[in-house]
Amino acid sequence: MVVLITGANGQLGNAIRSIVDKYSSIDFVFCASTELDITNKKNCFTIFEKYNPNYCINTAAYTAVDKAENEPEKAFDINTNGAQNLAEVCKEYNTILLHISTDFVFDAYFSNGIAYYDRELRLPLKSKFGLQETDVPFPSGVYGLTKLQGEQAIQNIWDKYYIIRTSWVYSEFGNNFMKTMLRLASERDTLSVVDDQIGTPTYAVDLAEILIKICVTSNGFEKVVANFGIYNFSNEGSCSWYEFAKEIFNQKGINIKLKPISTSAYPTPAKRPAYSVLDKTKIKAVFNLSIQDWKISLLKCLQKV
Ligand SMILES: NC(=O)c1ccc[n+]([C@@H]2O[C@H](COP(=O)([O-])OP(=O)(O)OC[C@H]3O[C@@H](n4cnc5c(N)ncnc54)[C@H](OP(=O)(O)O)[C@@H]3O)[C@@H](O)[C@H]2O)c1
Repeated sequence: MVVLITGANGQLGNAIRSIVDKYSSIDFVFCASTELDITNKKNCFTIFEKYNPNYCINTAAYTAVDKAENEPEKAFDINTNGAQNLAEVCKEYNTILLHISTDFVFDAYFSNGIAYYDRELRLPLKSKFGLQETDVPFPSGVYGLTKLQGEQAIQNIWDKYYIIRTSWVYSEFGNNFMKTMLRLASERDTLSVVDDQIGTPTYAVDLAEILIKICVTSNGFEKVVANFGIYNFSNEGSCSWYEFAKEIFNQKGINIKLKPISTSAYPTPAKRPAYSVLDKTKIKAVFNLSIQDWKISLLKCLQKV
């Protein structure tokens, strides 16, 4: 089985690379942006002709959420056109596409006309189990919009896809919230962190394991056509960014004065979802998974940094 990974030098690409030794029956092909630029259709076809992959895991993306507000064309080119190119080449080569999407396809408050988040209760109004795959997306920024359009482009072109929406990804690789907190704690005595955005941290290595498990369990895909579609994945549980930071410092034994602040006290160019906890019922049932609580996965990760 050949599994091709795009965006191989990114955080998730590196997380996948870190677990390949466990899967000796898979030939992994890691393509960094220098070898495979997903915005270049000809480049996509040349690479697929060379490797003829059974699976393509698209981790490549424009992920600079705030910068995207000023570079919408670039974000669109990578997140939408890039996803479209991959869907086209996957269709041509009968390759199953695993595409990573985001909780940012959901707006803070409304989906399908229903308000989701109760600031006082810290719960979505509709369900206390989080956002489901069938909830109507409603992105509020350029990044979320271009990611949603990428999902739609894939769905319009190719049937054999898994779109995995995830949230708050961190790891020992690349840049992420956990590493930023550790760096800031080494530079400052006090930190203020937003306490009114609720979501679930996702350890990139846990996500990597699930992606490979999907490839392994769906190999010989004629049997599982009905399972293609959109899936949510994050770790279990939920917290605010402030609570995430607090847990990082607790687990690392770092003494720092941490102040909870509201989103309005920390304005950013792109609006963030106030509530983006993802309901994982579907992925757990279809792929027979148990998912670790975010605090346990954080501990695993912090042992490596
Ligand atoms: N990080 C999060 O918190 C988060 C949350 C939810 C969903 N996601 C999604 O998870 C996926 C993986 O994110 P990540 O954290 O691994 O992101 P990342 O660390 O920013 O990695 C993205 C990778 O994409 C590559 N890339 C950019 N443009 C490309 C192009 N035209 N062709 C090929 N590769 C290109 C980048 O390569 P260069 O550096 O060489 O440009 C980079 O290595 C993305 O789809 C993202 O939207 C992330």
